[in-house]
Amino acid sequence: MTRGVVVLGSANVDLMVEVERRPHGGETLLGSDIRTFAGGKGANQAAAAARAGAPTRFIACVGQDGNGEFLRSQLTLAGVDVSGIQAVPHPTGTAMILVTPDGENSIVVSPGANRAMDLRVAEATAETWLHADVLVLNLEIPLETVHHLIDRAAESGVRIVLNAAPAASLDRRMLRHCDPLIVNEHEARFLLDADAQRKPEEMAADLLGEGARSVVITVGAAGSVVADAGGVTPIPAHRVEAVDTTGAGDAFVGAAACELARGEQLRSAVRFATAMSALSVQDLGAQSSYPDRAAVERFLRRLGEPGTD
Ligand code: RIB
Repeated sequence: MTRGVVVLGSANVDLMVEVERRPHGGETLLGSDIRTFAGGKGANQAAAAARAGAPTRFIACVGQDGNGEFLRSQLTLAGVDVSGIQAVPHPTGTAMILVTPDGENSIVVSPGANRAMDLRVAEATAETWLHADVLVLNLEIPLETVHHLIDRAAESGVRIVLNAAPAASLDRRMLRHCDPLIVNEHEARFLLDADAQRKPEEMAADLLGEGARSVVITVGAAGSVVADAGGVTPIPAHRVEAVDTTGAGDAFVGAAACELARGEQLRSAVRFATAMSALSVQDLGAQSSYPDRAAVERFLRRLGEPGTD
């Protein structure tokens, strides 16, 4: 029986306003009514993995407040085991999100309770993540904790999927445990200090050269690039009408983790994740827009792609 996916990471309440365009410095714009969604990269990735069908546990810190309760209840609805969520005496993480008519977003995160995910809290949940098939991490919690978790989980043979987002300076030693490292092209450029001319295929090869076991670079509407010992493979995206791209990258990460936990090969996992991500941009919000496995498989069948079963 599969031990499934464990995500240890951030949880935020997303406060979203639709605007015609982003404001300039010093400018005030009027936008839509505010909407509240469940978000946070870690929580989104857990929701996506669970919706895609993996037994999924989520470990995080939220505040002792209504937002914390809201996040817990939304994740439970998505099918995530939330017994690893701790309530701490800080406000629940909050993201302020502006969405423009092209579906693009700008996000500012106030980490709040996510900052409490220190080594002590992470270690207290070790029994859970040390027995995962796949441990998913991202960089919205303290970097020191991420480094510690990668070292400890790798020692125990847990497969680590690291989404190095938002961009931060990683200890290079960590790369050799990432299977895969998942980044978008901006994060890849940041990690490599690469110039704007460097292509995603080249950056994927560079990151492999830096020691990562495998690498996935997402390139928005252009799809992604997968690199491992078998070579560098571009995987095209699906053409869809984007309403809101918030959390699309997290849908991709969570769905890929699900597929890897089910024993799929990386390229097959990325094809499934690409479809999950394409469907997720067709509705507002992050977790609220994630389809279930049946919907992803229907979508792939309509496109004539076999899916992963
Ligand atoms: O990746 C999207 C997420 O980033 C949002 O849900 C927001 O909470 C921020 O963490």
